Amino acid sequence: MAKLETKIHNIVLKNPVMTASGTFGYGEEFADFIDLSRLGGIVVKGTTGERRQGNPYPRMAETPAGMLNAVGLQNVGVGTFCKEVYPRIKDIDTNILVNVSGSSIEEYCSVAEQVDALDNVPGIELNISCPNVKKGGMGFGTDPAMAAQVVKEVRKVYRKTLIVKLTPNVTSIVDIAKAVEQAGADSVSLINTLLGMAIDVERQRPCLSTITGGLSGPCVKPIAVRMVWQVAHAVQIPVVGLGGISCAADALEFLMAGAKAVQVGTANFLDPAVTVKIVDGLQDYCQRHQIEDINDIIGII
Ligand SMILES: Cc1cc2nc3c(=O)[nH]c(=O)nc-3n(C[C@H](O)[C@H](O)[C@H](O)COP(=O)(O)O)c2cc1C
Repeated sequence: MAKLETKIHNIVLKNPVMTASGTFGYGEEFADFIDLSRLGGIVVKGTTGERRQGNPYPRMAETPAGMLNAVGLQNVGVGTFCKEVYPRIKDIDTNILVNVSGSSIEEYCSVAEQVDALDNVPGIELNISCPNVKKGGMGFGTDPAMAAQVVKEVRKVYRKTLIVKLTPNVTSIVDIAKAVEQAGADSVSLINTLLGMAIDVERQRPCLSTITGGLSGPCVKPIAVRMVWQVAHAVQIPVVGLGGISCAADALEFLMAGAKAVQVGTANFLDPAVTVKIVDGLQDYCQRHQIEDINDIIGII
């Protein structure tokens, strides 16, 4: 058996396969389909200071090779997460990471501080890249100075592994990655969704209530691989790659481009067991190619 273990800063992953925020609930919803302990990590839903209802329906639309969503960070809020959800999921034998979202620097810091107190959460993923909220969200992630500012403030209150999730909706993702690295990020994950739009021509209306939304799924993968490759060559901190991964070969592309770990998002909606199939596929690939340690192929391109 090949060694699949990788490391993101201080977090040891039993294999590089994690789930992407917003596509895997709190993990527990998938317990009937897969053995959650086989995952390298679970990134839970975007969590904000207060409970959020999200955007009005319709907020999902299919596209030929992916989907558009405008869920808008629907979640129970950090207080309920800590009190009610965390006790239910804290003993799952994998890394539970919380995706921290907000509309202001104060909100990001407050959520991060409350999550810092949870013993079994070794890190957070700071979402400065959500395209579906009116205030904050992607606004923080599209300007290097603002991205650095939010990371600097969160760094002051959060002591464990700080992963910053980047938006692809920028001219140079490398500039944003460098700025957050300098501000104290321990890792970056990329990509969040690409801003998109679809129109129902029969109804002569936009498909989403918010008109625009975030595009994800297989159609975004070549963009994501390109960005991961660019960022991995520009920063020293570990990169987590995601965007359109739905099989082991997709995950391998990201690893070869320089990602130390990957996340699987939209593919979970098509096949709730896709993540463990990817883990098995990585093991199979390593055996076929006589690779003893998955780290040997990370960043080979
Ligand atoms: C329905 C849905 C909800 C999402 N919610 C979040 C979220 O709360 N926080 C976040 O950082 N990303 C969120 N994302 C983005 C995904 O985590 C991921 O970055 C993106 O979908 C690209 O990966 P994929 O093509 O594998 O889905 C969401 C995506 C989808 C499709």
